[in-house]
Amino acid sequence: MNIEQLNNVAVKMVTPGQGLLAADESTGTIGKRFDSIKTKSTFDRRRDWREMLFRTEDAMRNHISGVILYDETIRQSAADGTSLVELIKSHDALPGIKVDMGAKPMAARRGETITEGLDGLRDRLKEYYELGARFAKWRAVIEISNPDIADGVTPSWGAIKANTHALARYAALCQEANIVPIVEPEVLMGGYHGIQTCHDVTENVLKTLYSDLYEQGVILEGTILKPNMVVAGKRCPVQPSVDEVAERTVQVLKECVPSAVPGIAFLSGGQENVAATENLNAMNQIGGFPWNLTYSYGRALQQSALFAWAGKDENYDAAQAAFNHRARMNGLASMGEWSNELEQAG
Ligand code: 13P
Repeated sequence: MNIEQLNNVAVKMVTPGQGLLAADESTGTIGKRFDSIKTKSTFDRRRDWREMLFRTEDAMRNHISGVILYDETIRQSAADGTSLVELIKSHDALPGIKVDMGAKPMAARRGETITEGLDGLRDRLKEYYELGARFAKWRAVIEISNPDIADGVTPSWGAIKANTHALARYAALCQEANIVPIVEPEVLMGGYHGIQTCHDVTENVLKTLYSDLYEQGVILEGTILKPNMVVAGKRCPVQPSVDEVAERTVQVLKECVPSAVPGIAFLSGGQENVAATENLNAMNQIGGFPWNLTYSYGRALQQSALFAWAGKDENYDAAQAAFNHRARMNGLASMGEWSNELEQAG
């Protein structure tokens, strides 16, 4: 393990004005995204979509520090034969790789999941490093009590602990392979709960996570945290203001995340595009914390471009323009310099 190299990569991932593009949707998930634009998800079509994003010059060079890829994509080449990894590197962005095998139902805990993928991970990481990956992602999923999905009160302690333990074991294996682990414990925002519940659960999960990372010998200087923001459930009738989301999220992070961590890159988790930008901007306007706060968005960076593209080659320029705009707005938000006027100016 080369700690200096890991730290350099982690610091680069959270360069002010830049953030991560999560383009690591599994084949199933991207299929659903393509369904929403009535486009068939084929090997070539998935390549065309991602190649279009990775060829968006301004976004990639100035606002994207790294791209999280899926196993298929890290091995794929652009239509002209250039590997997608080389395309990403040509903009001075870092290639990364999703290495978990997905959140699977937990035994004896209806409605809760455990993320799998530790078996064989050491060998897979070695191969991914050779393919160019310099960072990795593992997503754990924490469901807050949702009567539509789970029995009783969730998350259970058993589910939190199993997931944070797996995250810590994954992180240690990544560092052994000189790959920076993004640790992502996502507290879902789909339910009926209020913001206080999300606040409490996020705090519990992050405290448990940092204890587990310590137990497994993970060097925090070579890690990135990818958390949810502290928000109310989507179905909660009382929705907090932007300021409340920002204040509570910063408060929880300050309580839980050691200052040795170079950066925190949020997931968007189903927030509207502009809301994800606005919330990040509000946090950076508060300032006064030891880590860089930026984005590692999937949907919030891609959705407007996906709709502009609609699976049609003739919409290539419009899709790139939409991606450029979202990347630029989020870049500004990572420095607390976004405004609604700039958003509207397009
Ligand atoms: P979203 O921003 O769409 O939540 O995706 C980010 C991600 O990588 C989830 O693992």
